[in-house]
Order: sequence, then C-alpha cells, then structure tokens
Amino acid sequence: MRLLVTGGAGFIGSNFIRFLFRLHPDYRVLNLDKLTYAGNLANLSEAETSPNYSFQKGDICDAGLVERLMRTGIDAVVHFAAESHVDRSIAGARAFIETNVLGTYTLLDAARRLKIPRFVHVSTDEVYGSMAPGESATEQTPLAPNSPYGSSKAASDLVVRSFWKTFQFPAIITRASNNYGPHQFPEKLIPLMITNALEGKKLPVYGDGMNERDWIYVEDHCRAIDRVLHDGRPGEIYNIGSGKPSPNLEIVRRLLQILGKSDDLIEFVADRPGHDRRYALATGKITSELGWEPEVDLATGLVKTVEWYRDHSDWVQKAKSGEYREYYDRFYVNRGTSLSQI
Ligand code: NAD
Ligand code: TYD
Repeated sequence: MRLLVTGGAGFIGSNFIRFLFRLHPDYRVLNLDKLTYAGNLANLSEAETSPNYSFQKGDICDAGLVERLMRTGIDAVVHFAAESHVDRSIAGARAFIETNVLGTYTLLDAARRLKIPRFVHVSTDEVYGSMAPGESATEQTPLAPNSPYGSSKAASDLVVRSFWKTFQFPAIITRASNNYGPHQFPEKLIPLMITNALEGKKLPVYGDGMNERDWIYVEDHCRAIDRVLHDGRPGEIYNIGSGKPSPNLEIVRRLLQILGKSDDLIEFVADRPGHDRRYALATGKITSELGWEPEVDLATGLVKTVEWYRDHSDWVQKAKSGEYREYYDRFYVNRGTSLSQI
C-alpha cells in the first residue's frame, strides 16, 4: 500500500507512521505536513532512514500541491493534519477553520476526482460536546461542539459525510478520545504537567479540576486507525476510546505520584471559557465490527509516558524552546529534497 499521510510530523501522525512501519514494513508513506509549531520532524528520525518514507513540506489547503501528490499513485489517505489545541482555538480560530475545514475539503475534492479508493478522516470525540454524568456518545449522538476547535472538526466531519452521501466517495471517519503518550507537544494536559513537574514548575489545573476526559494511549489509537484503514466500512463512523473517563485532578495526582513529587505543585487557575465538563465515548461498534479494544490501561500508559518524557529531556527542551524547527532546514532544505524526487 502507498499512503498519503497528512500531519505526520505531529503527535498522533508520527506515532502512526512509526507504528505502520513496524506492522507493515513494505508499505510506503508520503507525509505531507506544513510544519506548524506542532510539527516536529525529530518525531520521525527513525522513519527517515527508510527508503519507503518520504516527506513533503506543504499545506493541505494548497489544491495544486495536494493534486500533484495524489497523482503519484496513492492507495489511501490517512488525514491527521489539523490545528488541534482548544486553548489556541479560543485565542484565535482562523487557522482552525482554514486547515480543519478548508484543508479537509481540499483533500476530499482532489481524492474524489482522482478516485483514491480509501480515505480515513481522523476526528475527535469533541464534536459531540459535553456528556452528562453516566452518558456516553455513540456514533449516532448529535454533534454539539462547544469550542472553536470542536466546531471546526465537526464541520470537517460533515463535509466528509456529504462526500460519501453525494458522491459515494469512500471516506471513513474516526472519532477518538483524548490521546496521550510519547511525542505529544507539551501544551496538552499530560505532557505539560509531566514536564512542568520535572522542571519544578506549578501545574495549572483549570477550574475545579473535575472535568473528565476519556484517555487513550496513542498506540492503541494507531492500532484502531490501522484496523479502520484495512477493514472499516466506507461511509461509516467509528468511535475510539477507553470508555473510562477520569477527572483531570485524578490524572494530575497520578502523574505526581509516579514522578515522586508533591501535590503542592498543583495550582488551581481560572477556568477555560466554554470548558466541556465531560467527554465519554461508547466504543462497542469498533469492537464488534473490527475486533479492536484498547490494550494499554491508564496506569501502565501513564508510567510509560512519564518514563518517555523523563528519558527525552533533549526533545522536551527543543520543543519548549522552538529549537526543533531547525530540523527541517538541516535535513531537508540543505539536502535539497524536492517534490520531483518523491
Ligand atoms: P498535532 O497538533 O500534534 O499535529 C498536527 C500536525 O498537523 C502537525 O504536524 C502540523 O504541522 C500539521 N498541520 C497543521 N496544519 C496543517 C496544514 N494546513 N497542512 C499540513 N499540515 C498541517 O495534532 P495531533 O494531536 O497529532 O492530532 C492529529 C489529529 O487527530 C487531528 O486531526 C486531531 O483533531 C485528531 N485528534 C487528536 C486527539 C488528541 O488527543 N491529540 C484526539 C482525537 C483526535
Ligand atoms: P487538553 O489536553 O487541552 O485537551 P482537550 O481540551 O482537547 O480535552 O486538556 C485536557 C483537559 O485538561 C481539559 O479538561 C482542560 C484541562 N487542562 C488543565 O486543567 N490545565 C492545562 O494547563 C491544560 C492544557 C488543560
């Protein structure tokens, strides 16, 4: 299989590419990524040595580039590229609408015209909005996003749906819960808390800390996407999650315990505007249809994640200082890789 992966330099995309090469060493991957602040090519240093991997810096909103890449013989698109951080979407949502909505449309439009036979659109549980206690979202739950990030993802999901309904374009939507694990940019809850604690800084907990999220270890998510890519039914939606939401404060306390640090580092700060109280997913569909279940429980996943951040202080320091951005210049611009060589 030859895959076009978008956003492969980000957290989940880079974990997916590494996972895919372990599972299917003969597959070929073309990674299209704009390298925003969230794109870090150091996440892919292992893949770079593979002749089956190539990278193109570019924007998924660039219709000409997208079409040229898709004309190189692509069997499937796995679409991760997005603006992904809720707090940034509150500060300014334009890039979220452009990348998440227009970018997804641009990919779908080219893929449909060029008859790409498979398209996996990676979405999120945030499109369902906040769930009441005891409730969990199924794939039929109406969309009710509350953040600009959530609404941009919901909009993209609806564009994907319309391409299936109108053109029978064989797209599939996955909606995963909050991911955690290695290589997550230290702006999201878990890596921010780990890296702050390691540096002896305060851990800012929004509001009362009782908002709940359904955490899934990133490799479990990657395995689910691989299952959907191969055996998912076109036009369908698959929820992917642990089904066991935890309050933020519990997550933060568990991290401090693993790190051997005091709870005194916790600092309650002003709540996020429009902060969703609770995300919870029903995942029976992917389990019954594709036999997928999460394999890494929260206790194990948190320990693995803490160990990764503790062992990769260089990655963390470069991510926090912005130094990681030099990677592209050193490895690509200087080496002169161009589209014609892909
Ligand atoms: P991320 O922010 O770590 O990475 C996003 C990647 O997309 C970066 O490499 C960035 O450079 C790239 N990108 C951004 N705009 C682009 C553009 N216009 N053109 C090309 N590339 C662009 O995000 P992530 O956490 O890895 O999330 C990946 C996908 O999974 C997103 O679609 C997100 O909505 C979805 N998702 C994330 C989570 C989570 O907990 N992180 C949960 C469910 C779903
Ligand atoms: P985040 O990792 O930003 O993911 P999302 O908002 O997409 O679920 O946040 C996870 C939860 O942690 C969310 O309820 C907000 C909260 N949070 C904090 O309390 N403090 C922080 O510094 C951050 C980044 C998040």
